[in-house]
Amino acid sequence: MRVVLLGPPGSGKGTCAKIIGGLYGVPVITTGDMLRAAVARATPLGRTAKGYMDRGELVPDDLVNSLVAERLAEPDAANGFILDGYPRSPKQAEALEKHLQKTGKRLDHVLHVELEDEAIIDRLSKRRSCPRCGAIYHLENKPPRTNGMCDTCATALVQRDDDRPEVIRRRLEVYREKTRPLLSFYERRGEIKTIRGDLPLDELPAALRRVLNGRG
Ligand code: AP5
Repeated sequence: MRVVLLGPPGSGKGTCAKIIGGLYGVPVITTGDMLRAAVARATPLGRTAKGYMDRGELVPDDLVNSLVAERLAEPDAANGFILDGYPRSPKQAEALEKHLQKTGKRLDHVLHVELEDEAIIDRLSKRRSCPRCGAIYHLENKPPRTNGMCDTCATALVQRDDDRPEVIRRRLEVYREKTRPLLSFYERRGEIKTIRGDLPLDELPAALRRVLNGRG
């Protein structure tokens, strides 16, 4: 199973990606998490990426393309992957195409997770995430069992630096300018499927299964 998830920030791509990865037993590759890990380790990539991420801008294509190419070359991605947050620009879509051609594989699905701006801003301001295992929570819709602690690894949850209102607004603009045009690119090839990002969380696994099996 090879899936790309597209959609505005906070629409629920990461939440859907984790569910699909679990349903089909394939690795979830989240460029945002990989970049945040590089920032936390203060690697050369992380030091460069931090400024872009703090401003809500895209990290330059060549850096992200190399990061993803290395990850896709790992053995666990040979039989499938869920790409969450990549590609995000025409140059990244081209790089993915080249990788697929080189390996003789094709995408099974490009899933568009749709949500309006108002819901996105409300949602991101209440998101908390685990800096250790990447689990995603929401103060109202998906609170952790113990306040402020990850259910899976008991690490203190954090609010992402880029979930401040002014940065969220910039991320939405960048999405419209750079990433949304990819929807038409994949639409022309008949590869896009859409799922609403505001479905109740307990209905998501079944809804994703239906959409991916062509019954959505
Ligand atoms: P990234 O980490 O990818 O952020 P994003 O695309 O802005 O998406 P988010 O992670 O904010 O949201 P999401 O859609 O995954 O929603 P989630 O499931 O968490 O990127 C961050 C930055 O890194 C970028 O700005 C850029 O600088 C850089 N970057 C990353 N990839 C790059 C690339 N390819 N090229 C260049 N730069 C790149 O859900 C949000 C909240 O809603 C959560 O609290 C969740 O619990 C809740 N929720 C989700 N679904 C539901 C539901 N159905 N009902 C109720 N609540 C829900």
